[in-house]
Amino acid sequence: MRQLIAGNWKMHGLSADAVALAKGVATGSAGLGCDLLVCPPFVHIAAVAQAIGGAPVAVGGQDCHAAKQGAHTGDVAAPMLRDVGATWVILGHSERRQNHHETDAQVRDKVLAAVEAGLNPIVCVGETEQERASGQETAVVGRQLAGSLPERFAGVVAYEPVWAIGTGKTATDADVAAMHGFIRDALVRQFGEAGRGILILYGGSVRPANAASLLAVPNVGGALVGGASLKAEDFLAIARAAKAG
Ligand code: PGA
Repeated sequence: MRQLIAGNWKMHGLSADAVALAKGVATGSAGLGCDLLVCPPFVHIAAVAQAIGGAPVAVGGQDCHAAKQGAHTGDVAAPMLRDVGATWVILGHSERRQNHHETDAQVRDKVLAAVEAGLNPIVCVGETEQERASGQETAVVGRQLAGSLPERFAGVVAYEPVWAIGTGKTATDADVAAMHGFIRDALVRQFGEAGRGILILYGGSVRPANAASLLAVPNVGGALVGGASLKAEDFLAIARAAKAG
């Protein structure tokens, strides 16, 4: 299976920055052995999709609402994302879970809305530093998977230990192997054979220098990249480290 290298631009950049970054990624996107995705802030999605043109780089949102429309001030519905050129959406990112108090049940409803709108969901899970320190990491991630994924699921899962996001600390290859193996088993229990085909991305301080070893860990199906996705050359260097599949 081809690995997926996804850039989460979070709340960075004005429109000119987003277009320049998108063009930089598009320019270097030919002939890679992996799939590429960029997830700009909502307001830049249409411009980024246009800047990418026919290059093999997909565009996604960083969240969506569970309802198709309605009185939800400040929210964005999944069909709206699809309408402006997105084909993917990140859901349940730890920054949404922490800053917006999103629950597993809400993430699950968003996944259903995304799929119904024709978007591929990337569902994020991951434990905090304290949860890992107290040996709770698999219990936490297992609970997040059980609660956030609907009965049928054909999207992507991203394991992002909260303590590794934006901190420069990365999980060791052994920790990643253990957790991705745990997630794989949970997916197979939950979805049968289909669970073997679900990509499990690793996220948390992925950079060009550590990408090759992380991407070579068994059950790592790609990377969800925050900070290093804001420079086209770094993002493309990570993509070049991906395994062709
Ligand atoms: P980071 O963010 O690469 O800056 O650690 C990853 C993410 O939050 O998706």
